[in-house]
Order: sequence, then C-alpha cells, then structure tokens
Amino acid sequence: MTIQVIPTTPFSGQKPGTSGLRKKVTEFRQPGYLENFVQALFNTLGDCAGQTLVVGGDGRYFNRQAIQVILRMAAAHGFGKVLVGRGGILSTPALSCVVRKHAAFGGIVLSASHNPGGPDGDFGIKYNIGNGGPAPERITDEVYRLTQSIDTYRISDAADANLDQLGTVRIEQMDVEVIDSVADYAQLMQRLFDFDAIRALFARGFTMRFDAMSAVTGPYAHAILEGILGAPAGTVIHGEPLEDFGGHHPDPNPVNAAGLVALMNAPHAPDFGAASDGDGDRNMIVGRGIAVSPADSLAIIAANAAVAPGYRAGLKGIARSMPTSAAPDRVAEALGIKCYETPTGWKYFGNLMDAGLVTLCGEESYGTGSDHIREKDGLWAVLFWLNLLAVSGKAVDTIVNEHWARFGRNVYSRHDYEAVDSEAAHSVMRRLHAALPGLAGTSVGGHTVALADDFAYTDPVDGSVSLGQGIRIVMTDGARIVFRLSGTGTEGATIRLYLELYEADPARHGLEAQAMLAGLAQAADELAQLKATTGRQAPSVVT
Ligand code: G1P
Ligand code: ZN
Repeated sequence: MTIQVIPTTPFSGQKPGTSGLRKKVTEFRQPGYLENFVQALFNTLGDCAGQTLVVGGDGRYFNRQAIQVILRMAAAHGFGKVLVGRGGILSTPALSCVVRKHAAFGGIVLSASHNPGGPDGDFGIKYNIGNGGPAPERITDEVYRLTQSIDTYRISDAADANLDQLGTVRIEQMDVEVIDSVADYAQLMQRLFDFDAIRALFARGFTMRFDAMSAVTGPYAHAILEGILGAPAGTVIHGEPLEDFGGHHPDPNPVNAAGLVALMNAPHAPDFGAASDGDGDRNMIVGRGIAVSPADSLAIIAANAAVAPGYRAGLKGIARSMPTSAAPDRVAEALGIKCYETPTGWKYFGNLMDAGLVTLCGEESYGTGSDHIREKDGLWAVLFWLNLLAVSGKAVDTIVNEHWARFGRNVYSRHDYEAVDSEAAHSVMRRLHAALPGLAGTSVGGHTVALADDFAYTDPVDGSVSLGQGIRIVMTDGARIVFRLSGTGTEGATIRLYLELYEADPARHGLEAQAMLAGLAQAADELAQLKATTGRQAPSVVT
C-alpha cells in the first residue's frame, strides 16, 4: 500500500447546491470527478490527522465505488478511523445520528435524495460537520473555490475494503469500521418515542403500510416497525434498497407514491400509510382518504409534542423554510414560542438547533425533524405520528380536522415546472424582480399585497447573510405567492411556485386545495408570465 499523488485538472460546475453536489451518474463517473471534489473537501477541512469520519449512502448505483474511493482518499489524508454502514448503507438521518453519537469530525453522505438512481440517474455527495448537519455555506463555497484550481489529489492504492462484514479492516494507518447501519438510529428512536404504546397499538390490530420506495429506509423500517414494534410482516413494502429504486422516483409525495395514496383511498384501507425517500430524510403521512400536507404535519407534531417522551419537556421553538406554509407559526403563537423563517435547505436549521433556539423544524418538501439529529428524518416523523395515533386513539383525518378547527387551515400547494430551459427560467425570475418594487398596496388575485421582496436571511446565531432566497409576495390576509429556482435539479432549471391561502372557516376546510388556490395560481402566472415564457401550459408536478 502506498499513497499516490495523482495529477488532475478542474471540472467546471462542482458547486454544491441546496443539499450537496448533485449530478448525473455519468458525470460523476468521469475519472477524477469524485476525487477532485473529495480532495477539495479535505483541503477545506485542513488537518484531519487521527480524526474520525462517517461515510454512508442510500445504496444507489455508484454508492459502493464512491465509498471505496473516499476510503482510500481518507487514508491518504491521515484520518484515524472511518465508520461505514454495512454494505455502504446509511440513511441521511442515521448518518447524522452516528456522527453525533461517536463525536466524529464529520460525515460524507452519498445520495441524490429523491432524484432517480441507476446508471443514467443521479448521484450526489454532501459533507456534514461535527454536529451531524449539512456543512454551512462558508464550507461549501470554499470547496467549490478549491475545485476550480485543483491540480493533484492524494489517494492510497489499497485494494477495496469488504463493506459487507461487520468489523474493522485497515487501509494504510486508518481503521475502517463497518457498523450496523440501523442499531444506533433505532436506539435513539426508542429514547424519543413511547414504543410500548405503539407496540400495544399494533397488538390491537392497527394496520399500516410503509412504502420504503425501494430506497434506503427499508432496512430501518423492517427493523423498527416490524421488528421492535411488532407490526405484522408486510407492513413495510418495497423494503429492499435497489440501486435504481426499481426505476421509480423515490420521492414520497402523492404523485410519486400514487400507489400508496390510492391504497389509502380504497375501501378497507389500512389505518395509516407513510412513505420515505431515497436517503430516508423525507416523509409523507397518509390517513384513510387524506394525505397530510407537510407543513400541517409539522404543525400537528408541534401542537401534540407532549405525547412523545422525548418532547415532554416542551418545545424551545420551531423553524420552517420560507416557502413552507405558516401553519406551524400559528401553533408556535399558541404555545408562546418563536417560529423562525429560514431559506430553503436543512443547513439553515443547524445553527438554530445548536444554539437551543428550536426543537422542531420542517419544510414543505416533505421534510420534518427535530434537534435529536441535524438532518430531517423520515422515519422519525412516522414514529411521531404512530405515537400520536397510539396515545390519542384517533384516526389521522380526525386529528387533521380537529387541528384545522382550532388553528384554521393554511391551504397550500407547490407547482413545479421541471427541466425548463435555463434562460427562460431566469427571465421569469428577472421579470418578477423588476415588478417587486411596485407591488406593495396593489391587488393580486383579489388580495392586497402587504410585502413583496426577494427573501434575504440573517442567521440570528452567527450573523451570516443569505441573499436571493426566493421571490415572495405576501398578502395582508396571510395569502402568499412564492417563486424560486430549485437548487437540486440536474437538468435545465426547475421553477417552483408555492401558493398559500389562510382559511379560518371550518365549513370550507374540506374543500379541494387546488380549487381553492386556482385564483392565486392564475394571478401568479399573470405576474410572472410563466406559461408564456417557458412554453409550459401546466406544471410538471403538483404537490
Ligand atoms: C429541495 C426542496 C428543499 C429541500 C431540498 C433537499 O430543494 O425544495 O426544501 O431542502 O430539496 O431535500 P430545491 O430543489 O427546491 O432547491
Ligand atoms: Zn432526501
């Protein structure tokens, strides 16, 4: 075994987006592409001698090869130890849990989250710092800067490590410890939730379907739901992680998990349905005849936090990303705690949690979590709901309807225009920008505009400023239109249009969201000239 210094030349476009660097597998497989990025990361981190790193991914195509490269490069940089999930598998929340529990220096997540996998699919790499959460921009910006001038990388020429057998092997002076992917995470969940109550619920014949979407949550759900909690075999479906997710788009929303939603709408539906995404950090909660909107789920979790032993002491605060509906804000107000509004992306929640300002966080994109780790956590949300269903004895729809009756309903939807021509997308955003200064006080879709700006965020903990985080048009009655460009796509540009209305009247809570939001959607299109500029007559995905 020797450490080699390999000459290389920069690749353009290695700039991490909302959640790490995401590209097509074909791009990642170019010789030196992954190596350059990892070298730039290690250069950014500085002296790594003797440190512990955690590495794992969602099992998608190229996961194993990428892990071998990272191990050989970590050994060449003097890391003392790398913890790797067996088979290279660690869900994003499990990686965050392992980093924290073992006080590691940091972790590398290999995933493109909910993007499709396989040889023609997407791949991704993301660095998490010692608190278990995504690296802040000052780190990702520096990594990008270094990728632009890189000329060598360091790597051991050691043979591949066996990732399938628990135990420790050595590369150069570094220990590679293959750990059980589920154990640490399952232990943490047992501390947070009332497992006895959930076990009793399943023992009473409660039925559930958990769709792991052939992605990373399968092993976790099998072990926790069917193993520890005693749910009957067959509760977890698509529970085997596949390199191409069975050809599906592993994004838990009513469009991509349509089968689960159909099952929950059918006669004799199970009592409860849930799904998680590629890397296990997203969740969708479904009851009989109702898919719970993510911000409502966060609001309901906040309002009922005391049912779970881990949250009995009360909540410090809540945070939600700007485009997420204000449903959690209403609960925070009732609880007398603060609700922070951050830019899109989990990385903005880390400082708030570290500083003890918030306990719960969430995004409209099916992401919910708490300060137990520093990532959103799909199974955590599902276990919270199970805990709530077990303790309350109520059905999902009853819980949602009672919540709306108490707090009002934030009717919400996101319309995505995917893989739009990049220039057309930027021209839509430019038009909106230009319109902003004149909007306050005017009427848009029958609502009066209270505020129109490009969202900027000053982190209350470290004072860092993030500009250009999305166009928001906020109405005096709480309605909102938000436009932003996705930072996770790998093809052209994706325009996200977020629509929200506040409805206090319980008689109108049962109405269909798209119908209620149609006027706002039309007003948004008139303002942005979205359809005319992109040539798209309708969004590609509505959630
Ligand atoms: C999307 C979601 C965002 C989430 C991110 C990573 O980012 O909108 O809420 O944090 O994926 O899961 P976007 O593509 O909008 O930049
Ligand atoms: Zn994800």
